[in-house]
Amino acid sequence: MTAVEGPDAVAGEAGRVLDGRVALVTGSSRGIGAAIAIRFAKAGARVVVHGRDPQAVEAVRGRIVGDSGDAVGILADLTHGDEVKRLRAECEAQAGPVDVLVTNAGGSPVPPGPIEDITEEAWRASVDANLTATFLTIRTFLPGMKARGCGCVVTMSSAAARRPHPGSPVAYAAAKAAIELLTKDLAAQAGPSGVRAVCIAPETILTERNQQQIPADVQERLRMTHPIQRLGTPEDVAEAALFLASDAASWISGVVIDVAGGSVLV
Ligand SMILES: NC(=O)c1ccc[n+]([C@@H]2O[C@H](COP(=O)([O-])OP(=O)(O)OC[C@H]3O[C@@H](n4cnc5c(N)ncnc54)[C@H](OP(=O)(O)O)[C@@H]3O)[C@@H](O)[C@H]2O)c1
Repeated sequence: MTAVEGPDAVAGEAGRVLDGRVALVTGSSRGIGAAIAIRFAKAGARVVVHGRDPQAVEAVRGRIVGDSGDAVGILADLTHGDEVKRLRAECEAQAGPVDVLVTNAGGSPVPPGPIEDITEEAWRASVDANLTATFLTIRTFLPGMKARGCGCVVTMSSAAARRPHPGSPVAYAAAKAAIELLTKDLAAQAGPSGVRAVCIAPETILTERNQQQIPADVQERLRMTHPIQRLGTPEDVAEAALFLASDAASWISGVVIDVAGGSVLV
């Protein structure tokens, strides 16, 4: 029987599909973003690890460097345009111009609930943390990519954006749905300049946070809602991101990829 090759097995010379590229993964101090940063570094990229928590950023950077990868760590709050401008300047000074931009930072600051109970503050917080942060990041890094005539932007949506669901906070879901449209518009606008844009929409991913916060019985119930009967891992998303960011996907732009175990079918 032939053994199935995992990321470590394919990360030899042949697996270095991002050799020579600089990749910024926003929100890579933990969770899905950390898995993407680690995977991209294994594929040869110089990775910018980003977040707001200095210890968490340094832990991921240290792990990559300890594994013979190339990484720098930069802090910034992406809901402020000035901070994003500084992030770009520091990326270019410490790592070089960004070839691959993964706008992963985000999340839901509020729980699900009826629309009429959502406060204006909670709505704005969800839109800011997801849509506005993604817009500000793309707006800041796109001119460099267009000027160099190449680049790839991978944005992060969610299964929550793919259909209404009582378990999804609608402010978060609506912000993520807008990110999907923003990605398609970006692909249409920037394609002629050699820049691709794609979006990933994951279902529930077993990040450390979700493993701690989602009770075991709920995890089991969720597992059974997926035709592929397991929950996703950060590494599942990282493998999709790596393929989409690589030249193997050079003819793919303007699409949303559900990394969701088939759950969008049911
Ligand atoms: N986990 C899931 O089940 C799931 C499913 C679908 C979609 N997603 C999406 O996938 C992405 C990652 O999710 P995750 O579960 O891995 O999240 P997570 O563990 O909560 O990590 C979020 C990351 O984003 C950063 N971040 C958040 N807001 C930021 C801001 N305003 N400025 C700068 N950095 C910010 C955090 O930085 P610090 O912690 O350093 O502050 C952290 O690195 C999010 O966009 C999320 O909506 C997740």
